[in-house]
Amino acid sequence: MDHHSGHSDAAKSTPGQAIPLFPTVCFVAEHQDAEELNEAIKTYCLEQEKTAAGIESGSIEGGYHSSREFFDSEHVAVQKLKELLLEDARQYLGHYWKQESTTPLGSMGDLAMRMTGWSVILRQGNVSKPHTHPGAQLSGVYYVSTPQDQNDGGELVLADPRIRATVAPLVGQKSNALFPPRAGVTILFPSFLEHYVLPFKGSGERISIAYNIVLSPKSLQSD
Ligand SMILES: [Fe+2]
Repeated sequence: MDHHSGHSDAAKSTPGQAIPLFPTVCFVAEHQDAEELNEAIKTYCLEQEKTAAGIESGSIEGGYHSSREFFDSEHVAVQKLKELLLEDARQYLGHYWKQESTTPLGSMGDLAMRMTGWSVILRQGNVSKPHTHPGAQLSGVYYVSTPQDQNDGGELVLADPRIRATVAPLVGQKSNALFPPRAGVTILFPSFLEHYVLPFKGSGERISIAYNIVLSPKSLQSD
């Protein structure tokens, strides 16, 4: 329209567009028919707890935190789980990369992913305090054994990284996201995302395998 014609050229607007600018892409994968695998991993973890000294993680209070070489074992079930969790991480990377990078993932060639993992065994009253996983890009947790009762606690909490978002909260402000632990489920999130585990109140053990993925150096800097 001619801006000098004097006609009402002011008010033809198309609807504005929402732009989700910095969403934090996380990932959940449910594995069916994992009972046998979980049973084998559970047995392995409880045995490892008895025979191998755990490490101070700085985040868990009580409970057992294995060394970070969990996946170095040649145990068949451990290697099977490693493949499964790597595949989950590959899928997640596709989604995460698309959100985070202006460079198409497909143009990056074969991106190596280095994986380290450890087992965490929590019992009644144990928690994991807020922490992040420095030095990695992707982090995840897989639940091996979790009591059925919904009142057993032990939820994973992913904290809203927008630390100022709750200064003036809306009604029903979405803030920290809670994930009740469920055996056979993998949850992946960016390693920078602060997370913690609410006190476990069930009987027996809450067993999970946590892991970090470090991407190959070529994925981490532009040229
Ligand atoms: Fe963690």
